[in-house]
Parts: sequence; C-alpha cells; structure tokens
Amino acid sequence: MINVAIMGHGVVGSGAAEILINHKDRIEKAVKDEVFVKYILDLREFNELSYADKFTKNFDDILNDDTVKVVAEVMGGVNPAYDFVKKCLENGKSVVTSNKELVAAKGAELIKIANRENVNFLFEASVGGGIPVLRPMVQCLSANEITEVSGILNGTTNYILNKMIVDNMDFDSALSLAQQKGYAERNPAADIEGHDACRKVCILAALAFGKHVYPEQVYTEGITEITLDDVAMADSLGYVIKLIGHTEKLENGKITASVRPTLVGRDCILSGVNGVFNAIMVTGDQTGEVAFYGKGAGKEATASAVVADMVDCMKHLSARKYLSWEDGFDTYVDTNYDKNGKFYVYLKSNNYNELENQFKNAFANTDSVVKNEISGEICFITEKDFESNIKTKLASFKNCEYKLLHTMS
Ligand code: HSE
Repeated sequence: MINVAIMGHGVVGSGAAEILINHKDRIEKAVKDEVFVKYILDLREFNELSYADKFTKNFDDILNDDTVKVVAEVMGGVNPAYDFVKKCLENGKSVVTSNKELVAAKGAELIKIANRENVNFLFEASVGGGIPVLRPMVQCLSANEITEVSGILNGTTNYILNKMIVDNMDFDSALSLAQQKGYAERNPAADIEGHDACRKVCILAALAFGKHVYPEQVYTEGITEITLDDVAMADSLGYVIKLIGHTEKLENGKITASVRPTLVGRDCILSGVNGVFNAIMVTGDQTGEVAFYGKGAGKEATASAVVADMVDCMKHLSARKYLSWEDGFDTYVDTNYDKNGKFYVYLKSNNYNELENQFKNAFANTDSVVKNEISGEICFITEKDFESNIKTKLASFKNCEYKLLHTMS
C-alpha cells in the first residue's frame, strides 16, 4: 500500500481528493498497488465530508510520517508552499504541484533537491490545467530542438475575451462569471494582469530551452486595457484578440519571453480557442508545429493532471523522471528584443483631419485600415517592420493617443 497526502483543499485539492477517493479502483489499477490518502492539510473545517477524518492542520503530521511517499501541493502561492515542498523533498517524499508561482520562482532549486534526494518533483498541472503538455514536450519531442512555444495559457482571460467578443459582455461581468466557475486565481489580478500566464511562460521556456527563466525577465502585459472597441476593431480587420504567451530561441543564444494581448489572424488555430480552453503550440526542428489543446483551468481538469503526476510518482518510487533545467542568469532573456512583424495600431484624436494627414504621411502603404471620422479613430495593421521603427513614427504624431499590439497569423 502507498500512502499519499494532499496539501490544500481548495478547488484543485478537493478535485484531487475526490478522484483519489471516488475513483480508487481506477487509480490503483494504474499504480498496480493499493493507494491510501492518509492526510489532507487545510486550516479550514470540512466536517461534512465523508473523508473528514483525513484532515489535519499540522504540516508536521505529513512531514514526519515516513509511510507517506507522495505529496500533492495544491495550496498556491510561494509561502508557505516553498518551505513545505522543500522539506518534503528533503525527507525523501516525491512532490507534485499545480503551483505555477512556486515552479516559476523556485523550480530550478526544487528540481536540484529532488535529484539529490532521488525523488520526483512533477508539475504537469502548473501549465495548461488538464492538458498534457510538459511531459509530451520533454519526452515525446526529445528528438527535436525546440525553437518556439506560444499559446493561450490563461483560461480566465480567454473566457473573458471570448465573452466580450461573442456576447458583447463587459469586462467586469465576464470576470465574475469566470470566478464563479472556479477558473480565476484567488486574486484575479494575477489572471487579468498577465502574471499567471507569465509564470507558465517561465516554466515552458525553462523546459524547452533548459535554463530557468524568472517572471521578472518576461515582458508581461494583461488584458485590462482591452476595450469592447478594440475587440470590434480587431474583428473588422479580420483578427481576434487573445492573451498570448510566447518564448523563442534567438540566433544569439538568448531567448525572448513575453505575455501580451495579441491580434490573432482567423487562419491561426489559436483564434478558434474559446472559453476556458488553452492551446499551446510547440515548434520543433523535426516536427514543425505541434498543438496541445484542452481545458486550461477548473477543478476536474486540473485535478486530473495532479493525480496523474501522483500516479507517475507512485509508479516510479525508486526511479527519477527527467523533467529538469539549469539555473538561469540575468542576460539570458533578451528584454530589448525588437520584433520584426506586423502590428495593430489604434489612433485617436480630437482633430480627425490632422490625424488622417499624419497617418497618410507616416503609413502610406497601409491597406488594412478601419476609420471612424466621428469618433476620431483610425485603426490599422502595419506593413512588416521593426517595432522600434513603428514606435518612432507614432511618437512624432501630434495631438493623438495611440495603442500598439502585436499580431500573429
Ligand atoms: N487562473 C488560472 C487560469 C488557473 O485561469 O488559467 C489555471 O492555471
């Protein structure tokens, strides 16, 4: 019999407990052994549950019980999760986590400890919720040099943008619906300001390119400035707005990493990824683009990935899974990368005639344009150029505010 513990009984933790307890037969068949959930750590009371006897408020119960071989950390946040996970690994327990904040901040260190102690530290649920992406990327694409990873990595923002696009719903109403459905982080600012997607980019980049990437190294912009007007303008130009996480290997040995609202062309498969669904596109030098798609958030989907990692740990109690990377360094991520591509530009002025003259002078060859003389707005897709050149041109415009977004197709 293998004893396991779950630290945290929130959305994901309760989902994991329910799978392990209600689908015991299925799990035991996969593990080929009896599996017993011995402890669930949470400070709250859950007396009404059929498995109320498993709860403890004391982490030491788990840490000091040598019969507990696998622990799931599903509390979220760096503290006290970091301390608990580190101690469990040091005490010879394998740990799985859905906690992207922890992996993005401390992944390299925790992986080193796991390697030293000959236990596993797995985190499939930290990116893409229920989508198997980390393990397939590392194992099934191991014959490739991975050159680029991009995707829709946050279910809450994708749900919000989709509600704005399809139902014309305002931002706040769409956010509260996402919260009700259990998609959003405890503090939804992490979703809408892009930090959650940023942490996932760090993990994907670290696995794809082999070095730790810290959240501070990732250019991060959320969706709080995206309006229903932007959504409508993008639609008129043949695009949808998505929050895209992206990382790419550069010729100079560095990488780029970003999270930003991006206009996605309707011919790109990411444009059809709706609601809470996520999709991650990995480009390998042998395979070309490979896409992973599924529910990126929510109780059951995320718990599915947590439990699968627990099963993997139970099946490999004395063998290590090779999911790892090295320490990163300051200059590894090129934070001044100047993208060469097409950009979406939104211009607004109180003096439409002056605005139009400036636009014609600066962007003479642009044919993808939407103009609104009454509201004083011009939106367009630029010709292919460096972002710095576009910004220099826009900075010379008088009496005008502008917004610039990346595009992908
Ligand atoms: N808040 C996250 C999301 C949960 O919306 O994608 C899954 O990481």
